[in-house]
Amino acid sequence: MQKIFQKSKNRFFGQGEEAYGGQYIPEILRPALKEVEKAYKEIFPSQAFQNELKELQEHFISRPTPLIYAKNASKILNNEIYLKFEGLANTGAHKINNAIGQVLLAKKMGKKKIIAETGAGQHGLATACACAKLEMECEIFMGSIDMARQKPNVFNMELFGAKVRSVESGSKTLKDAVNEALRVWSAESKDTFYVLGSALGPYPYPDLVRDLQSIISKELQIQIKSQLDGLPDIMIACVGGGSNAIGFFNEFLQSNIKMIAVEAGGIGDELGEHAKRIKSKNATKAIAQGYKSIFLQKNAQIAKTHSISAGLDYAGIGPQLAHLAQIGRIEFMSARDSEVLEALKFFAKTEGIIAALESCHALAGVIAISKNIQNKKIIVNVSGRGDKDIFITAKHIAPHAWLDFLKSEIAQIKGK
Ligand SMILES: Cc1ncc(COP(=O)(O)O)c(C=O)c1O
Repeated sequence: MQKIFQKSKNRFFGQGEEAYGGQYIPEILRPALKEVEKAYKEIFPSQAFQNELKELQEHFISRPTPLIYAKNASKILNNEIYLKFEGLANTGAHKINNAIGQVLLAKKMGKKKIIAETGAGQHGLATACACAKLEMECEIFMGSIDMARQKPNVFNMELFGAKVRSVESGSKTLKDAVNEALRVWSAESKDTFYVLGSALGPYPYPDLVRDLQSIISKELQIQIKSQLDGLPDIMIACVGGGSNAIGFFNEFLQSNIKMIAVEAGGIGDELGEHAKRIKSKNATKAIAQGYKSIFLQKNAQIAKTHSISAGLDYAGIGPQLAHLAQIGRIEFMSARDSEVLEALKFFAKTEGIIAALESCHALAGVIAISKNIQNKKIIVNVSGRGDKDIFITAKHIAPHAWLDFLKSEIAQIKGK
């Protein structure tokens, strides 16, 4: 097996032409990133910082999250399946592992204000929550189209005291929110810290986010010892930008465990119908949003994507995962929207777990591979819980009942 670097070397994963990552930023952002790099190297590893982070992980996020033996699903799928359930973390997903760490780091750096981008709203929600807890001013940039689509998350971010700034430029979605947040950061970096939401962007963010999300695999090392008879044969996670996957895999990269990452297969193979970066002819190497990786592109522009899950429809992929795919350490597959909904229903009925639509891609992955393999120990990372998805899932699963419910809600509001 090739040597797998646990940290980026010279800011890149891999070597020469095949390297991914780096720091491709305008001159104006260089001082801000230098400061983040210094804090990552000096404050982050200090015992005092790590102790404070551990306290928050245990008593605020509610870690460790459980490793649940999926007994009923295992019987039906003829494999021994375990679910690492990040849905029980505060705010309902793994995103808080990263947000709380970065906000704490910003506070230790003496920053007064946090800014962050968000697409689906989960990272914005986690960041707003962390800021409420750590008493930091918080501003979340969100495309106006995403704001309209994700009203409940906007409502909850504001409840946490964050200001949600509507971005009207470009396609009015995530990539425009990132651009706007970077523009504001370059002007205000003296007092402001930019909390990036996945294991991507310019160095040192891919390393910082990976280290914060690695709490998932660190806990698994302990849980596997007490709950499983030896290491698992297979580990499966979904991939948007890549933070839950790299955090889940990280401590096991040097092992012989087979690792599978599941991308959003959407509704078809044409550009705009899915968000497959590794398994698509339209995805190629590029430099965008401060780093080098693989992006879905059309005419040298970041392409539109589609997924039933708002958290997996990012057109790029974190540089470490792009590297691990390239050297063959992680296998990639995809799950279509329809398979994702089937996985949601199957694990709800058999295991009493309503997983986030993003996580249901990993669950669809375990259902798919179980058609060809048996008696394997498999751990699936269930990166979040699915309460947040009710506005999407109800439309698909019970459209008439949902419409009646919405009508009665509107009637009640009008009657007041
Ligand atoms: C529950 C959940 N899982 C997975 C993801 C995908 O992000 P990442 O690939 O960074 O883990 C998201 C993104 O919002 C999410 O909310």
